Amino acid sequence: MTTTARRTFLQQLAALGAAGAASPFLSPDAFAEQSWAEQFNNALETHPWLKAYRSIGQTAYEATAEVTGNWPEDLTGTFYRNGPAQHEIAGYRYHHWFDGDGMLQAYHLSSEGVRHQARLIETYKVQAEREAGRALYPGFASIPPEPAGVTSPDSVNVANISVLPHHNKLLALWEAGSPWEMDPETLNTRGIYEFSENTRGVPFSAHPRVEPDGTLWNFGYVSGANLLVLWHIDANGKLVKIGKVDADPISMVHDFVVTSRHIVLMVPPLNYEPSPDRPMTFLDAHVWYSGEATRVLVVDKNDFSNYFWTELPAQWVFHYGNGWEDNNGIIRFDAARADDPFAMIDTFRQVMRGNIVPGSSSHHHQYRIDTSTRSIAEVPMFSPDVDSEFPCVDPRVSCRQNRKLTMLSSSPSTSAIHGSLNEVSTFDFDTGERKLYRYPDHQMPEEHLYVPRPGSVPEQDGWIVGTALNWRDEQMLLNVFDVSHVDDGPVATATLPYALPFGLHGKFAAG
Ligand SMILES: [Fe+2]
Repeated sequence: MTTTARRTFLQQLAALGAAGAASPFLSPDAFAEQSWAEQFNNALETHPWLKAYRSIGQTAYEATAEVTGNWPEDLTGTFYRNGPAQHEIAGYRYHHWFDGDGMLQAYHLSSEGVRHQARLIETYKVQAEREAGRALYPGFASIPPEPAGVTSPDSVNVANISVLPHHNKLLALWEAGSPWEMDPETLNTRGIYEFSENTRGVPFSAHPRVEPDGTLWNFGYVSGANLLVLWHIDANGKLVKIGKVDADPISMVHDFVVTSRHIVLMVPPLNYEPSPDRPMTFLDAHVWYSGEATRVLVVDKNDFSNYFWTELPAQWVFHYGNGWEDNNGIIRFDAARADDPFAMIDTFRQVMRGNIVPGSSSHHHQYRIDTSTRSIAEVPMFSPDVDSEFPCVDPRVSCRQNRKLTMLSSSPSTSAIHGSLNEVSTFDFDTGERKLYRYPDHQMPEEHLYVPRPGSVPEQDGWIVGTALNWRDEQMLLNVFDVSHVDDGPVATATLPYALPFGLHGKFAAG
């Protein structure tokens, strides 16, 4: 592709992304707007764990944590987490968990203790709505009264899914737009981050994969154009290449897999079918086809125009743990697999008005792609009653063979009253052993991460570090587990004197 052609293609992508984001947002919801906040507040009285979905009371938090236990001397660095946090604006409560404006948090870990900061991300949307004194824009599954027009995906980019420390930058990530650059020390918002002038506005997903040498891969989807976009960025943050693959029908793709040679994306049959005849949100512009295949795309990392498609039964995957490939071209990866996306479609919507609707749970599966025969197979990894989510690995084996896996989990027989996952588990692929720590009912764990001990052999030594909401005492906890003995419980805990809304993804920056 020539430079001019490439620029045109990228400009078209950005414009089509804007069209894709704007077209479904035609008129206000039919729901009574104020009732969601009232219903939620009423439900809080009988289900206090719903504090996980309460809106923040202020736009910044700062505290020194109280540390108990034996804090590991060499565990230093910053644990960043992002997530939807401002769920209400001037009395308007969003109709989906994923609509809340993002708040970036940093737990600074040092020999002096644990210091916490949190800041609402000052997106264009946050600034405009503060100025207007009301909710202005349609979101993922919400349309406030008298909505303003959406001019581009980044005008409604809430930067609320994940965070990425990379090439000395700190980026807050959404899914349908650009990264927001944040100050790693103050958490102040610096502005939209562009990897290059020509890629302005091209979607950059919240789940980039970073290889051990710092090479970064990502994707984006452009709903209005039935396109998947692929990004290749080097360890210094320089854009190496960007490409596209046609995917018609297009769907929501949240995460993907990268191996030493290939990129794998699963496109579930949740098809984007906006209709100009009826008002609908972005989420409601999607239709689930349970009898259709999940299409699996396998792309050559070195040549984005070289790819093939294969198929699996209909399924919904938010997150993959890791993917890797052997010398025979066999790709293996794991995923938290649900039969359908109804947790996103219904559960995460209804919870915003305190209506507790069980969703389809996800069960960990292992996948195998033979790149020579272009075939794929899947098998469940645990007994059917183990639910799982938020899988992760030692970042030093990212995109390479991993022998260990960390995740949140739960079992129906020991489920918590809050209904969310209540265990942190480690799994050893060689021995088949799963160890777990079960949180008490008044604590709701968020994603936990594998943090290597500096200088250790990959996957052999380190900690599982994760946060939890103590809804009973209105505190946040940061727990540290020995990676080999998670079942012994936390070796140290840092406790904050306030509660924050349930977050999504985090990353650890050593230092
Ligand atoms: Fe995610």
